[in-house]
Amino acid sequence: MCGIVGYVGKNKAQGFLLSGLRRLEYRGYDSAGIATVANDGTVTLIRAKGKIDNLEERLAENRRQDNVGIGHTRWATHGEPDEKNAHPHRAGDIYLVHNGIIENYKELKKALSGYEFASETDSEVLAALIDSFYGQGKYSLTDAVVQALKLVRGTYGIAVISGRSPEEIVVARSGSPLVIGVGHDETLIASDASALVGHTKRAIYLNDGEVAKLTSNSIEVRTLNSEPVSAKVEEIETNLAAIQKGGYEHFLLKEIMEQPKSLAETLRGRVNSKNHTVHLGGPELSEAELRKIKHLIIVGCGTAYHAGLLAGYYIEQFTPEITIETVIASEYRYRAAYIPKDSVALIVSQSGETADTLACLREIKKQGIKTIGIVNAIGSTIAREVDGGTYVHVGPEISVASTKAFTSQTIAMVMFGLTIAQAKGVKNVILKPYIDEIVKLPEEISRVLETAPQEVEKISKKYAKYEHSIYLGRDTAYPTAMEGALKLKEVSYVDANAYAFGELKHGPLALVDDRFFELAFLPKGPLYDKSISNVQEVMARGGHVVVVTNDDAFDMPVESVVKITTSIELFVPILMNLVSQLLAYYITIEKGYDVDQPRNLAKSVTVE
Ligand code: G6P
Repeated sequence: MCGIVGYVGKNKAQGFLLSGLRRLEYRGYDSAGIATVANDGTVTLIRAKGKIDNLEERLAENRRQDNVGIGHTRWATHGEPDEKNAHPHRAGDIYLVHNGIIENYKELKKALSGYEFASETDSEVLAALIDSFYGQGKYSLTDAVVQALKLVRGTYGIAVISGRSPEEIVVARSGSPLVIGVGHDETLIASDASALVGHTKRAIYLNDGEVAKLTSNSIEVRTLNSEPVSAKVEEIETNLAAIQKGGYEHFLLKEIMEQPKSLAETLRGRVNSKNHTVHLGGPELSEAELRKIKHLIIVGCGTAYHAGLLAGYYIEQFTPEITIETVIASEYRYRAAYIPKDSVALIVSQSGETADTLACLREIKKQGIKTIGIVNAIGSTIAREVDGGTYVHVGPEISVASTKAFTSQTIAMVMFGLTIAQAKGVKNVILKPYIDEIVKLPEEISRVLETAPQEVEKISKKYAKYEHSIYLGRDTAYPTAMEGALKLKEVSYVDANAYAFGELKHGPLALVDDRFFELAFLPKGPLYDKSISNVQEVMARGGHVVVVTNDDAFDMPVESVVKITTSIELFVPILMNLVSQLLAYYITIEKGYDVDQPRNLAKSVTVE
């Protein structure tokens, strides 16, 4: 979490810093700040509580011509979100922005004498620690940073400036991402490459344990042990259109509506619809290796976890003799779970930076298990650390609530499952229906999105007044219900929980009253009738039931129905999930909340 930017070059720094922070605002929006340094060493520090708009107002009163600066948008960890806790932090001659957590900051603080701390943050302690070395006069700015970081335990992506070295920025990373943009007579930094788009196409992704000294026309990277690193310059693929709203009022709606296209990108070149086979190059597993797989562990957080659950339901339908366990990364990293040697782990993450997911990846690798990434952000830490992987290629997902990534993560994992099944010799007649439907899915999504928004918008007006809701489904519709409930609570703050229909009688049925509405997913299939009986049980207790179904003939007298017309069967839950996404969107709009940046959340959770 938290977004970091920096600029050193021929132009005024404030311009890039502000636009960069706007692009990174999804990473945190509790407070923001900028520090710039003039040629004569004067440093100007401007900070504001709340969103970037507040910072912009302050900057308008204090325009600076300085060519060097750093900026930060914060998601609070230590200390409440107010101005004194906002970054950059100053200690002596040092100004610092920090993303991550310094775990031993209390010890370090005690050992630092002569500093008065203005904030409650761990980051200010790090600034003081660097200053304590820099102030001795015998270290360059880079060396002072290195000395300090050697004493630090925790995670960081940092950028440091000082009035005593007005022409440089020093950056370093361990566990929190940092990208260096290579420009003409300018060098930029950002927590993710989207902030650099439109400024440069060339980027260096800093690795853990590296530190770099940046000037307008030089980038010197080295390790904390002072070994020089010859950094690889990579191309940034994102274009400007992909990170703009493109005519939509909100990123969330844009990203929901983009799904036909984004899923098509996930499938591109990977499915052969003529001979019904799937080919994924990225996992780099031979047929023999695929054949040997007996266990799949799927690891993720939030929406990525739900995608893993849903994919798991599908994969076990067509892959024989395989066990699948989908786990929450923040739990799994501390479990003493035994992983059999014939396992493969799927590491699922839109951002590729989620701290818990990354920690699991490292733990699993330590046990000698092959790891395969299902990642969206190209060049992200998880993408670089896995043994192989499949990018979902949905383009930047900017709204904090994940939508298009879910659809593509699920299908990418199903495709991976299909490659295992193919290698294990599962008959084409079993796999063909899945492959046929996957090929059709972008078009089917497109069809649902032609009418569902209007329909869902209408019913959302009625359900926006409820403070509680229950999402219900079974089999593949159960993870879909879980994802739907997450969507609603994260953007509209409506209490939403998902239950498997079969669990209703074991507790949740007691909740049904006029304060709740119940969203029931009823895909046609073997469990359809049983689910209908469960809906009847809710109705008999006065429930306010909304049914989402692909059964044209559905005629129960429930309060509301959203019918999905489609020719597919297996992946109907993916289509139903579009209804959940739209419902969360429209209920939030009805309530008047910020749908792209919900309170207390951040898109990329890079702290534990
Ligand atoms: C955050 C986001 C969620 C996301 C989760 C995992 O909580 O708000 O939308 O599902 O992190 O993120 P990842 O980038 O690992 O998929």
